[in-house]
Amino acid sequence: MFVGLDLGTSSLKAVLVDDRQQVVASHAHPLRVTSPQPGWSEQAPQDWWEALLLTMDALAAANPREMAQVVGIGLSGQQHGAVLLGADGGVLRPCILWNDLRSVAQCAEFERRFPYSRQVCGNIAMPGFTALKLIWVAEHEPEVFAATRHVLLPKAWLRYRMTGEMIDDMSDAAGSLWLDVGGRCWSDAALAATGLGRDAMPAVVEGTARAGLLHADLARRWGMKDRPVLAGGAGDNAAGAVGLGAVQAGSSFLSLGTSGVLWVTTDRFRPHPQGGIHAFCHAVPATWHQMGVTLSAASSLAWWARVTGMTETALLAELPPEITRPSPVMFLPYLSGERTPHNDGQIRGGFAGLSDATTRAEMTQAVLEGVAFSFRDVVDALADAGSELHDADVIGGGSHSRLWVSILANVTGLALHRLAHGAQGGAFGAARLARIAVTDEAVSAVCQPPQREETLVPDAGMAQAYAAPLARYRALYPALRGAMAACPA
Ligand code: XUL
Repeated sequence: MFVGLDLGTSSLKAVLVDDRQQVVASHAHPLRVTSPQPGWSEQAPQDWWEALLLTMDALAAANPREMAQVVGIGLSGQQHGAVLLGADGGVLRPCILWNDLRSVAQCAEFERRFPYSRQVCGNIAMPGFTALKLIWVAEHEPEVFAATRHVLLPKAWLRYRMTGEMIDDMSDAAGSLWLDVGGRCWSDAALAATGLGRDAMPAVVEGTARAGLLHADLARRWGMKDRPVLAGGAGDNAAGAVGLGAVQAGSSFLSLGTSGVLWVTTDRFRPHPQGGIHAFCHAVPATWHQMGVTLSAASSLAWWARVTGMTETALLAELPPEITRPSPVMFLPYLSGERTPHNDGQIRGGFAGLSDATTRAEMTQAVLEGVAFSFRDVVDALADAGSELHDADVIGGGSHSRLWVSILANVTGLALHRLAHGAQGGAFGAARLARIAVTDEAVSAVCQPPQREETLVPDAGMAQAYAAPLARYRALYPALRGAMAACPA
């Protein structure tokens, strides 16, 4: 029996997976994000810890027989966040999250200090990545920086609390911008560019490696017979890939979660930083991936629901079962800036094309289409990076909407596979990594693809109908950019 834990942005989830890879139980606890200033995004690590205890306590209470048999735990987590620890191991300030935009100015400074960073770290310096957050802290909170002894990514901090060990896996470490991604080890030059050394970093291991033993008191609390082994685990996208069996070069998926991700597994380090493509390590040995990220995907619809005072389900219910013509309204989903392809932390979103006849349903459709257009930009950026995609599995909360997936297929030109069960999230992938760490089975034997429920293929007529709105969407970005630059807030 294995436990997979996924420390997401909106919730912490745990799944209990048996030896036949069936999910026998799951539990989740919501998490809140705070934004002390516009563009900032933070969470208190202590809230993650309380969510973990509540989630695991609930899982243990409902499944005592299964919990007694747990031999491995896998961790998946939101990437890039910076948890700063002082000399006593205590947390020095709230974690600055992956979608926090405060460190825009620090990106150029990092690349000035480390001119080869794009080749070594595989990415343009973007405000979301951990290293940039540390330059910001050094400049704006020098006393916190001076007190910092260790920097951990979110799930590595959970492991530290669960086992007492500072260890992280390659896939998550790659998102820090401190890793030599091709060499799969810390880059001294990248660390030096932020005033840190290897002593501030956790040990790095493969996601399938053994990485700590659960504290005995926690094992007792949850009724576990033995102290389970923790696997190295994975960043949430790599864990999702493992859950989908996307471990062979060329396998791909599209995640319609809080952020949107288009992922391709590669058999070597293939950096292509121009175009905002990320090149990171995968969580399984000798494997890498390319990925494009659109920062506000399912969160765009959640935002629109908040603004209208509606639920997302009620908004979607106002749309026809099938979209037969594009919305006359355009939506640009740059609510928290954009990574791929623009790498623009300062851009913000917009509606365009409103008239006095515009309806709420047309605006909702525009939100779904705007996210699809941003994915189309990612498809094209990946093609430029040498990864020409034809199809992808779809995961993430937004994939429950068949309508949204059909819009995505028509706009991106990809055949999109909807999956039979919702279990293939990061938590399930993390449980698979735990299994491999404990049993030493082959990655390919454990990471089989899930059953597909249906494939939505692009409709030629609708693809044609979207050509003009796509061109308009693309023309709106520089216009918005220019307007914001000319008259900053
Ligand atoms: C990936 C990224 C997000 C977070 C979300 O680069 O920033 O997908 O991992 O949890």
